[in-house]
Amino acid sequence: MVTATSSASTTTTSLLIFLGVAAVTSFLAIASEAKKQESKTLHRGVGRKLSEVEKYVSTSIHVNMPPARRMGITVDQVILRSDEQEGFVSLSMPIRGNTNVHGSAFAGSLYSVCVLSAWYTLVIHLRDTWDEELLNQCTVVVQSAEINYKRPVWNTDDNEFIIATSFLPTKDDAWKAFVKNLEETRKTTCNISGEIKIVGRKPATTVKAVEFKALLCVMLPKLPGE
Ligand SMILES: *[C@@H]1O[C@H](CO)[C@@H](O)[C@H](O)[C@H]1NC(C)=O
Repeated sequence: MVTATSSASTTTTSLLIFLGVAAVTSFLAIASEAKKQESKTLHRGVGRKLSEVEKYVSTSIHVNMPPARRMGITVDQVILRSDEQEGFVSLSMPIRGNTNVHGSAFAGSLYSVCVLSAWYTLVIHLRDTWDEELLNQCTVVVQSAEINYKRPVWNTDDNEFIIATSFLPTKDDAWKAFVKNLEETRKTTCNISGEIKIVGRKPATTVKAVEFKALLCVMLPKLPGE
């Protein structure tokens, strides 16, 4: 009888301990999930909070672009075009894991991060211009691209991440004309160019390592009756 009670109480104790451990584990799991979510809304390098449009690009790469995600590409900075400032998208990619036989950055990975930054530059500005309904009908594809590899990109302490930046060079009226033309013709192209800069050997010098230009094609479904 005594033995049975004691064994029952032992069972209860171990059950409680088990529940206790499970509770702590699930608490830790929730905490780590929250941390993961938070890390997606913070800048990888400097830890600042991402803006809304930066969060959109970060999530979009994570969810919709598996090859880019595997290369470690994420958002660095996004600025939407205004009357005073040109728009740009900077994406970052670690050199580690993206190297060639010489140990410098792999040309194919550089091409990917460049073309992707050009694509997002156009896409975020369309998002900024149109409502959800029009956006959902729109297709943006890369038609061609030119890339000029000017210098090798080495993995150094100053330079662990490659930053590719594409610019929307249009003035306000040029952007409006582009959008108007697209809405009327339902299909048009747009050149977006950009660069990869690296930190030079001497402090405070940056040099252009890559220049690129992508021709993007934007399509909308034909209007009824056309
Ligand atoms: C894009 O650039 C190419 C030259 O690289 C040029 O031939 C073409 O006309 C340009 N397209 C647009 C839409 O500006």
